[in-house]
Amino acid sequence: MRHSIRFVMAGLVILAAAFPAAAQENSGSLAGAELAQKWCSDCHLVGRGQSHSNDAVPSFAAIAAAPATTAMSLHAFLLTPHGPMPDLKLSREQIDDVVAYILSLRQR
Ligand code: HEC
Repeated sequence: MRHSIRFVMAGLVILAAAFPAAAQENSGSLAGAELAQKWCSDCHLVGRGQSHSNDAVPSFAAIAAAPATTAMSLHAFLLTPHGPMPDLKLSREQIDDVVAYILSLRQR
């Protein structure tokens, strides 16, 4: 898939740029936000700018707000495909990014 290769490359560039910085969590959630927009927003409400998605699918804000949600539970969940998601294989880094993004939506 042409698209995913380009996206992985972009992710790697972002990661490489972020690596020396101490503030890795922020850049992770930024890359995660892009990833979520691209791969997850067909089904999930992934951010504040989006007005509708599929009603049967929990929004990322709702997922973040659930007490049972932790970085660990999200990692475990995302290691296996879910929903009708053909061909979506997230790398470890992509999972880290998108988990950081989802958790960044948690109200503090
Ligand atoms: C084709 C539709 C679809 C796509 C695309 C999709 N999801 Fe989902 N997702 C679902 C559905 C449906 C559920 C609820 C049912 C389930 O748990 O399988 C769900 C549930 C989840 C949950 C668990 C919610 C909970 O209750 O803890 C997480 C986390 C999640 N999705 C993350 C993602 C991420 C990250 C992406 C993008 C990389 C993504 N999803 C893309 C359909 C989708």
